[in-house]
Amino acid sequence: MTDLTLADAGVESPPDGADDGVWLACIDCDWTGAPFEEVRYRCPDCDSLLEVRYADHPSLDDFADLTERGVWRYADALPFESGVSIEEGDTPLYEVPTIEDEVGVADLRVKHEGMNPTGSFKDRGMTVGVRVAEELGVGRLACASTGNTSAALACYGARADTQVLVLLPAGKVAAGKVAQASLHGARILEVDGNFDACLDIVSDLADRGEAYLLNSLNPFRLEGQKTIGLEILEQFRDQTGDLPDRIVLPVGNAGNTAALYKAFREQVAAGSLTPEEVPALTGVQAEGAAPMVEAIEEGNDEVRRWDEVETRATAIRIGNPVNAPKALPGIRETGGTAVAVSDEEITDAQRSLARDGVGVEPASAASVAGLRKLRKAGEIAADEQVVCLTTGHLLKDPDAAAAAGAEPEPVPADTDGVLDHLGESE
Ligand code: F0G
Repeated sequence: MTDLTLADAGVESPPDGADDGVWLACIDCDWTGAPFEEVRYRCPDCDSLLEVRYADHPSLDDFADLTERGVWRYADALPFESGVSIEEGDTPLYEVPTIEDEVGVADLRVKHEGMNPTGSFKDRGMTVGVRVAEELGVGRLACASTGNTSAALACYGARADTQVLVLLPAGKVAAGKVAQASLHGARILEVDGNFDACLDIVSDLADRGEAYLLNSLNPFRLEGQKTIGLEILEQFRDQTGDLPDRIVLPVGNAGNTAALYKAFREQVAAGSLTPEEVPALTGVQAEGAAPMVEAIEEGNDEVRRWDEVETRATAIRIGNPVNAPKALPGIRETGGTAVAVSDEEITDAQRSLARDGVGVEPASAASVAGLRKLRKAGEIAADEQVVCLTTGHLLKDPDAAAAAGAEPEPVPADTDGVLDHLGESE
């Protein structure tokens, strides 16, 4: 079990070579190193995950007067001042009155990450990750993906004029996402295996120097995604005068869970939040792909890899969440929990969100499905102020949306025929 606590954001002294007050540190042992001299994804001493560390942490008050919007608004909390950007971040925090009433919590908002340029939160990670790739001077970018990462990487890679290779589980990626990767010019390899197999292969390719890996194993990706947490704190405070008690989010590789926890640890270090004020991170997985939930429920320090995974929410059809060593302490230290929901519960939540005007893909709706389930079970209290994170846009998975929605009705091509049809159906 790693020692990522809310009381310690790891502000020890920088190693040699970390001139700008930014360095890499292992989350398990004492290894630290300069960030941009060599390509590294894991600790060279113990193979554990790496984290980006900073000499200083700006507080929420430091951001308050800035006029910039989006990810780079938070440049002082990131390794660079700017990056390859198509105006990612600055996504809406919506009220969802019908769901709020029905679920019965004091306040419910939805942070809709589907409103990013390529339709998912992955853009936040890519604007930073591709900037780092430029710094390292790598020739080819690569990722394994359940779809959204590949869409974002293809887009940002195109913008940076760099080759992109994506490995997708054959037949298990929603149509919108493949279309994006394809049009933005990525080379798409369809692997006869699931996402975890794709990630094993692309990690091997990266270790052999064939490509720069931009999955969330890459610690710089998570720096960009950290800005979701900072935006939620700022927006929730602007809208309600308060901070949220809880953030409910879908979990696949647990990158966002890890990134939000890091954002909050750094804000505790900056003095913006007390450890008690940090929102409880609450992860939701699909029943058919729930290894994190299993680890939380059983109190395990490690997550068991599930070899067989299945769910309609293909974005989170993942059996080996690589960021678990960062995310498990995040859930536990913030007083959060994790819950599994069925595909039917996911589709119901997708319909409820749509009813409140928020169009999301199935994985995103898992957050609302999880909130509903935990509220019914009494694990979330009626007086809580909650933010659900919806991670991807409805149009990412048009087939799932059409299957969850109303059937089109064939009518003749004349007004009387249309009126007859409407009369018959009323
Ligand atoms: N929601 C959506 C829409 C996603 O695409 C993903 C991950 C997640 C949630 C899970 O986020 O991994 O940070 O826990 N999609 C990755 C991909 C795996 O390849 O697009 P996480």
